[in-house]
Amino acid sequence: MPERFTVTTPIYYVNDVPHIGHAYNEVATDVLARWHRMRGDDTWMLTGTDEHGQKIMRTAAANGVSPQEWTDRLVETAWKPQLELLNIQNDDFIRTTSERHKAGVRIFLERLKEAGYIYHGEFEGQYCVGCEEYKTANDLVPGTGEYEGQLVCAIHSRPIEVVREANYFFKLSEFGDRLLELYDSRPDYVQPEHVRNEVRQFVKQGLTDLSISRNTFDWGIKVPWDESHVVYVWFDALLNYITAIGYGVDDEQFERRWPGVHIVGKDIARFHAVIWPAMQMAAGLPISEHVFGHGWLLVGGEKMSKSKATGIEPKQITEVFGVDAFRYYFMSAIAFGADGSFSWEDLDARYHSELANGLGNLASRVIAMVHKYCDGVVPDVIPDAEIATLMADAVGRADKAIDTFQIHDAVDAAMSIVERLNGYITEQAPWVLAKDEAQRLRLHAVLATNVQGIGTAAIMLAPVMPETAQKLWAAVGGEGDVTAQPIQQAHQWRGTGRVTTVPPLFPRIEQP
Ligand code: MSP
Repeated sequence: MPERFTVTTPIYYVNDVPHIGHAYNEVATDVLARWHRMRGDDTWMLTGTDEHGQKIMRTAAANGVSPQEWTDRLVETAWKPQLELLNIQNDDFIRTTSERHKAGVRIFLERLKEAGYIYHGEFEGQYCVGCEEYKTANDLVPGTGEYEGQLVCAIHSRPIEVVREANYFFKLSEFGDRLLELYDSRPDYVQPEHVRNEVRQFVKQGLTDLSISRNTFDWGIKVPWDESHVVYVWFDALLNYITAIGYGVDDEQFERRWPGVHIVGKDIARFHAVIWPAMQMAAGLPISEHVFGHGWLLVGGEKMSKSKATGIEPKQITEVFGVDAFRYYFMSAIAFGADGSFSWEDLDARYHSELANGLGNLASRVIAMVHKYCDGVVPDVIPDAEIATLMADAVGRADKAIDTFQIHDAVDAAMSIVERLNGYITEQAPWVLAKDEAQRLRLHAVLATNVQGIGTAAIMLAPVMPETAQKLWAAVGGEGDVTAQPIQQAHQWRGTGRVTTVPPLFPRIEQP
């Protein structure tokens, strides 16, 4: 029986210009999904866009179009192209303005109401439109510059709005104990540890009920029993994870896919690990398997964001370094879970040392030698035991790392093979062995070991650098699609056919 692996990205605010912070999140989720597919797991990757709320309504108006036209345009011109650019293999794309989503949200709300978790009440709060969230005093900081003398949102550095409304509320406050019990009984539910501690601390301080509707604007999903209200955007958005897989309408699909794993930025871990599981408890659903809160990409020491003009679009990088190098860099240079600083210098240095000189060079040298010394035929000889053991260890380590979301460690394990092989070639000096007929078998063993190593590394790198891996795979004579290889047995692959050629994988870049 293949294991189920349903994995989700957050759904992105459609209004934002896609930047490398979003891309980071998408690529990481895609790498996990691709790895699980290559394990043979019943994998499903979901992503999409968050399209309701006041901010979107305002920008649509400022652009002179209806909110629906506005979001349609952004999905087609910005978000879907971003997925294509980054070579993301998502199985589905959910939009919160789609009929299937709206229908699921209505069903969910009705069920919660019937179960007695929704009531009508008065509310006044300080709302940040950027976060689409009511803020507490702890979330606000003194403003600077034009906002000097005012309190502003700590994330957006902009003033909050005081909102007074009669709303529908979700009885979030009733779930504190059950949430604490969830964190204690399933210590790997929220990861990494520092995010888990923060979430736990937040719940321990006591939860207040959550306002889940608004009636001062209408760009949202109407509350089924009171159409003068629309559903609060976060409540609406979190439900994408289940409406996309048939909640309330397709039980078979839902059973097959749910529960899933959520990969989110740490800034929104609280929504996913507090509000969302409480909603699931209230509706009697199985709780998500994991919520993993990754770190932020920092540029110049600050969280990268378009509004602070530190925004970098993925294509600025991919146009120079290529898509695979983009994916590799962010997955290997930053420990998944920690913040990471992006710099062009670091990217350039790693590209040249690890990819061009490390991987690219290894492949072209080995393939050239198999052509030169063996007429392109991979010698059918048992590889060297030391390297075979190293490869088996690397595959085991990487596979475990994926289960604990340590993507950088999985990449490191794959690259440890490349690094070792480069050293091994220097030590074994096949060009010297080739001069001595008596060393023929030794030469064959060295070359066969290298071919196997590159094949193994290609399989392991396929989730991270799909195109490069396929080229490496074809070069060492691998048949068909590298992704058809069982990744947990990557080290057992034995090339016995003919090598082909390696196209230039990582051309030198003079002026990034
Ligand atoms: N729409 C909500 C999510 C709803 S999910 C039910 C949202 N959208 S967002 O577009 O603002 O953010 C999407 C994701 O991008 C979040 O996980 C966020 O953490 C991530 N990132 C945005 N900027 C980032 C960085 N600079 N670095 C890393 N990730 C960042 O929140």
